[in-house]
Amino acid sequence: MISVGPGYPGVRRPFGVVASTEEVLADPAADPGVLNPLEQARAARFRRDRDRNDFVAAHLLVRRCAARLLEIPPAEVEFVQHCADCSIPGHGRPGVAGRPEVSLSLSHTTGVVAAAAGFTPVAVDVEQLGSRQADPAVLARVLAPAEEKLVSAHPDPETAFLRQWVRKEAMIKLGLLELDSLATADLSALPLDQEPGSLAHYRTDDLHFTEFHDPRRGVLVAAAGPIPVLLGVSATPFTDLP
Ligand SMILES: CC(C)(COP(=O)(O)OP(=O)(O)OC[C@H]1O[C@@H](n2cnc3c(N)ncnc32)[C@H](O)[C@@H]1OP(=O)(O)O)[C@@H](O)C(=O)NCCC(=O)NCCS
Repeated sequence: MISVGPGYPGVRRPFGVVASTEEVLADPAADPGVLNPLEQARAARFRRDRDRNDFVAAHLLVRRCAARLLEIPPAEVEFVQHCADCSIPGHGRPGVAGRPEVSLSLSHTTGVVAAAAGFTPVAVDVEQLGSRQADPAVLARVLAPAEEKLVSAHPDPETAFLRQWVRKEAMIKLGLLELDSLATADLSALPLDQEPGSLAHYRTDDLHFTEFHDPRRGVLVAAAGPIPVLLGVSATPFTDLP
């Protein structure tokens, strides 16, 4: 589906997709051989197969998104990464060589991956439900005071905290926040509850969040950007990209 973003006439809506690592790797079209030498080297360094598979699946999925956006075969996507903080090649913000107008994002957690692509900035983060403790010291470091109050008083503070966490990680990937400035963003106006299995759309003054609580894969996903991100959540991620 091609849909035009509000306020950006003629611009294809950015899109993202969430999938289990197994779903990605089981697809007959999934070819880990398309990873570039830097990615191959990183993949080889994982000690646990499980972590390697998550990494490979996320890097394949982001190529599928880029390929769909650019209307080229995944093997022709010249995937690159750039870290603004160091000169070590092959990590940091993902992109396509020679195509600065393309925004890519990827995320991996145990057994589940997500990726996104757009001609406008886009970011995605996926985290396993139950993966973050709502420890008071951590809440104080990550959350603005108003967010902290709401999360602490929530009947399920872990999940409430995770919701703000995936939103803020997406903001880091957009370059709007840093790990040591997470508490400066106040997202307390955004809801903390979401019906399992549902997609939700929220907006702040300058950002749109598309969120998915995926009970089947056991994760929370947040995709963000200046225009709303279409999020594909089916069990056939490669054939069902938005
Ligand atoms: C980006 C960041 C939020 C990732 O969070 P995470 O939950 O641990 O991991 P996720 O699986 O969700 O995302 C990892 C992906 O984010 C992407 N990424 C890394 N840095 C990024 C950045 N600055 N901007 C956008 N995307 C970035 C990469 O594609 C990475 O995947 P890869 O490691 O397989 O290449 C976190 O790494 C961060 O805050 N980085 C900035 C600080 C930093 O690490 N600096 C590096 C100093 S050398």
